[in-house]
Amino acid sequence: MAVILKLDGVSKSFARVETNDITTALAEVNLEMKSGEFISLVGTSGCGKSTMLRLIAGLIQPTTGKLSVNGEEITGTSPSRGMMFQTHTLFPWLTVERNIAFSDRMAGKHKEKASVDEVNRMLKVIGLDSFRKDYPAQLSGGMQQRVALARTLICKPEILLLDEPLGALDSFTRMNMQDEILNLWKENKQLVIMVTHDVDEAIYMGTKVLVMEAHPGRINAAIDIDLEYPRNRASAKFVEYRRQILDMLHFGHKED
Ligand SMILES: Nc1ncnc2c1ncn2[C@@H]1O[C@H](COP(=O)(O)OP(=O)(O)O)[C@@H](O)[C@H]1O
Ligand SMILES: [Mg+2]
Repeated sequence: MAVILKLDGVSKSFARVETNDITTALAEVNLEMKSGEFISLVGTSGCGKSTMLRLIAGLIQPTTGKLSVNGEEITGTSPSRGMMFQTHTLFPWLTVERNIAFSDRMAGKHKEKASVDEVNRMLKVIGLDSFRKDYPAQLSGGMQQRVALARTLICKPEILLLDEPLGALDSFTRMNMQDEILNLWKENKQLVIMVTHDVDEAIYMGTKVLVMEAHPGRINAAIDIDLEYPRNRASAKFVEYRRQILDMLHFGHKED
């Protein structure tokens, strides 16, 4: 089903009890996003990226404004909005394959047999087929991150929320995973919203890049990336997008 996600005048403030002041993590965000879009979120640390994902996931409620999917207000979590957290948590007592399968069962998506095929496919996607019987503690940080990603992807949520999903990976594995995520997105045509620190990754993957700024957290620019997939990082247009976005991020620094 095609979805339209809307944020109408959404703000989120956090009270700090110790200092008796208020952090405006997000101020007056108005956005519309729909199935088939891949939104990259970039911005300096503390500009409200994770807060935005948590609001969309329904984990926290806005201070003002409203979030809705197809006109229905978001009031809590839903399996149709799947999130991979910045600091992921795998079940240490389950093997790699069971960590992945458990998530699928929780979402109530598959009967036992179908799930086995899906788990096998996900293990190939993340390139950890031969580690399926290992436990998280036996894996590197980057491998653990890929298992956490597979757990989120296997549920095929209509809205996929990824908070720096590839941050722990070496650059070669990272580029492979970017292509794998793009392949799944093309197949499932969901709405993906991905936070990344990597401007190249944001441009390489996104149909649109949202550039955010802090104090208060807000969206500074929405840049449509008008390039065919698969994208060439060395093309003149790609390089021009990179320059434009990096300029905006530096501007944000100077303002602080
Ligand atoms: N639960 C919370 N309690 C208090 N302050 C918070 C909480 N969550 C986030 N913040 C504050 O809101 C701002 C935005 O945080 P966050 O969304 O995590 O930023 P980002 O993911 O862009 O680095 C920061 O100043 C952060 O300290
Ligand atoms: Mg964050």
